[in-house]
Formats: sequence, C-alpha cells, structure tokens
Amino acid sequence: MRMKSLLLSACLSLALAPAAMAQPITGSGVAPATATNSAERAIGFAASAPAGAALVVVMSDATLPPLDGVALSAAERQAVAAAIAAAGFDGKAGSTLSLRGIGAHPRILLIGAGSTPASLALAEAGGKAAQELKSEAHPVTIAGAFGDTSAADVAYGFALGQYRFDRYKTVDKKTPPTGAVTLVGANPSAAEAAFNNRWKPLADGVRLSRDLANEPANVIYPESFVARVRDAFAGAAGVSIEVLDEAAMRKLGMGTLVGVGQGSPRGSRLLAVRYRGAGAPAAPMAFIGKGITFDSGGISLKPGTGMWDMKGDMSGAASAIGAALSLARSKAPVHVVAVAALAENMPDGNAQRPGDVTRTMSGKTIEMLNADAEGRLVLADANEYIAQTYKPRAIVNIATLTGAIVSALDDQYAGLFARDEKLASALIAAGTASGEEVWRMPLHKNYAEKIKSDIADIRNITPGQGPGASIGAHVIGYFVDEATPWAHLDIAGVNQADKASPLVPKGMSGFGVRLLDQLARSGE
Ligand code: BES
Ligand code: ZN
Ligand code: MN
Repeated sequence: MRMKSLLLSACLSLALAPAAMAQPITGSGVAPATATNSAERAIGFAASAPAGAALVVVMSDATLPPLDGVALSAAERQAVAAAIAAAGFDGKAGSTLSLRGIGAHPRILLIGAGSTPASLALAEAGGKAAQELKSEAHPVTIAGAFGDTSAADVAYGFALGQYRFDRYKTVDKKTPPTGAVTLVGANPSAAEAAFNNRWKPLADGVRLSRDLANEPANVIYPESFVARVRDAFAGAAGVSIEVLDEAAMRKLGMGTLVGVGQGSPRGSRLLAVRYRGAGAPAAPMAFIGKGITFDSGGISLKPGTGMWDMKGDMSGAASAIGAALSLARSKAPVHVVAVAALAENMPDGNAQRPGDVTRTMSGKTIEMLNADAEGRLVLADANEYIAQTYKPRAIVNIATLTGAIVSALDDQYAGLFARDEKLASALIAAGTASGEEVWRMPLHKNYAEKIKSDIADIRNITPGQGPGASIGAHVIGYFVDEATPWAHLDIAGVNQADKASPLVPKGMSGFGVRLLDQLARSGE
C-alpha cells in the first residue's frame, strides 16, 4: 500500500515536472547524422585549360576575346562567331548562349557580364555558369577577357552559385557535377591568392549560414546549432567561443530569452563567437542574430500553411555567425562578436501565455501579448548581455523579425532600422558593394508610444493595425543604450529564395553574411 502510493506520487511528480525535465528529446529525425550534400566542383586556377572540359567564356560584348591558354582553333572561333551573330548574342549582363557540336568541345557556354563589369557582375557570371553546368558531366574551364582579380571574382560567384542542399535525397537526386572548375588566366597564382584570401572564406561563411538554415528543425535546434558552429570554427586563430545554457541564463535574469524557449524540451542557448584579428580595435562590433530554430508561434500558434518555412527563423543568427567565419578564415584585421540568441518557440503546457510579464536581464519588464512576436524578446536579453559583457562599439541586430517587412520590401531588400546615421550609411554602402541590399525604414519616436504597456514597461506588440516592422524594431531598440550606435536588419523577406538567381540557388539564402562581412571590413 505504502509502496503503491509512493510510486503514485513519484509518477505524479514526474508528470508535473517542467517539460524540459520530464520529456526526453526524441526524434532527432530520419536524418542520418552523416548525410552530406553532393560534392561541389573543386575550384582551381591555371594558365592553360585542361583537355575535354566544357568551356565557359565570360563576355563583355559580342566579340569573342583572345582566350590565351584555351585550345580553340581558328575554325572553332569562326563557328562561335557565326553562332553569336545568328543568335544576336550581345554580351549584356545576364545573357547566355549555349553551343554544342563545336570541335571536340563538349559544350561552349557564353555568359555576358556587360562592358567593364564590376566585381559583382563578374561574380554573377560565375554563379550563372555554376547553375547552368550543375549537372554537366564534364570538368569546366572558365576563361574571358579578365585579369587576375576578376578571375577570383568569377570563382567566388561560382562558389556561391553551385551551392546545393540535397543531403537527404535518396532518390531522384539530380546528377551531381563531374570534375573541377578551372579559371584560366595569365597569372593563376595571383588569382588563386585573391580567391583564397578573401572570397573562399566568404563563400564558406555563406555556405555555413545556408546549411544551418536549410537543415530541418529536427536536426538543428539550439544545442546542435552550437555544435555545428564549434566544428566550423575549429582551428581558426583569434577565435573564442562562449555558450550560456538555460541555467546560466536564468541566473543572469534573462527572463525573455529563457521564456521564449520554455515551451520546448530543447534548451535555449546564447552563443557568442568572438574574433579578433591582428591590430584590430579593442571594442568589437557586435552582430546579434535571432536564432529561433523553429517558430510555431508558440501559444499564439501560426496557421499550418507555410509554417514549415519557420525552420529558417534562425537565419539572422546563422548569417551573423557566417560573417564571423568569413572574417576569421580570411584573417581580417577586425574585431567582431557574432551572437546567436537560440530558442525553439513551441506551444506546450509550460509555454508562456499571452499576457505574461517577464523581466529582462536589464531589469526592464515586458508584457508578452503575442507569443509569435518572439524574436524581439530573445534579442532584448541577448543585446543586454552582449552590451554588458563585450562592451561593443556598435550593435547590429539581424533577424527574420516580421511579416510586415515582407509586405513592404518583398525579397529585394532587407529592412534597415537605425538610430545612428553613420552606421546606417555604412550599412547601405556595404549593401551596395556586397550585393545584399538594404532599404532604410522609419523609427519615428512616436511609434514608441504604441508599445507602452498598462502593467509592465513595454508590451511586445501593438494590437491591431500598425507599422509592424517599425514596432518590432522599437521593441528591440528599447533595450539598447542610446549612446551605443545601433542598427537592426529585418531579413524576413530575403532569408529565403523562392527561385534561383545567379548567386543564390533556391532555398535559404544566407543573406547577411556578405553584407556584415563587408560592413566589418569597411572600418566602420
Ligand atoms: N518569424 C516571424 C516573422 C516571419 C514572417 C519570418 C514571415 C519570415 C517570414 C516572426 O516571429 C513573427 O511571427 N512575427 C509576427 C509578429 C506579430 C505577431 C506582431 C508577424 O510578423 O506576423
Ligand atoms: Zn519568428
Ligand atoms: Mn514568431
């Protein structure tokens, strides 16, 4: 009898224990841990083209350039010229002409980059080549009327454009590419050095961000995100990694970050990757990303359609970290701290309820009216912790924060909100240079009135219609000291590509890696 009641009470206490303790984490998924994406083409540089390769020529106009190092007979050149004339190919950026049956060349692909192409136009030609030739069963040679650094630009574009995420396909898998890609030019070692010093690390950073965001949420959750990032930075010089688990965050009073994750059995984490290059300033620039590994909306549950895209709600965190990987691997003379505020937003008996009030690490309180406005909550605590611990000279938040920014800017621009004019200008310039563009949005001080709460300091939404993206930005900005230059990038419209463009295959885009890499290097 006694035994029985003891057992019963043991069962009861187990059933009533917080979800985090009682529930084992099951279903890390059908995804085998060892699954990898199909091999990408290795990228190399040479003074002459290997035999038997498909030939890509980057064109500035309708005239075939000399192409030193490429075996093309006079008759073959003539055949290409005739095809150019017949097709009316003009070499404008984005134009292509694919030719087969010329000599022994398996394929000759002309890609326009326009006259005097800038770095980005060359990269786009490279990306286009990668995508056009992604199932081509031959090695690839790329040549054109370009110099050493331009060859590196083309190679960079190729690296971004050939990305694929097919690791879980076991049938109907598209044929992976065969052989390497070789950029042919007069000074291959200079081109290779330019590629290895700058562009390859950047492409690695973009790949890391895309991989993290494309992975389903049964594979990437806060703990596994941290593990992947540790692996990616293994051996990188000048890097130190700090991770706070839930117990540590609770102790520090990080009520909003822990609160968002409390409906999930998967523990929240705060991950900070600091990289300090040689000669870099003492105060880092902080890139602080929203890392919601799945956003169901919590108790304010989202509708079913499209909810699957919310595996990518950690894109901001992934891109902040990806930028740091690029900077570290290229040994850039900069000082950054890249931060992932990681939690899974799930409905559960232990989840936060609309109307709940929580206290942030700063001591300020938030009334949580909508559990689906969770990004601003995790960033509130992350910003405070990083400000106190790392004393950054500027803070840039990056987050898939609102559907409202998608309505305003679609997939063309990230929304930029900033209180600091210099930082805003630097971000706009970095956007233009990197090809990841931003558009400035308003942060009118009167909007701040709309987030006042009746019972707490602020609330996390404004009920009813309103400038949703600006309201979200205001909630985050409320937790950043006015003296610290601060900007916030809302990337909800750009973190995912519905269709391929030269540098971004369909799927998660890695948006922000190139932008933040550029910002850090700009010396701002
Ligand atoms: N993660 C979403 C925002 C989002 C929407 C990202 C579409 C990518 C594509 C965010 O957490 C969210 O749910 N925001 C709400 C806020 C609202 C409740 C104030 C939204 O935008 O609807
Ligand atoms: Zn979200
Ligand atoms: Mn949400």
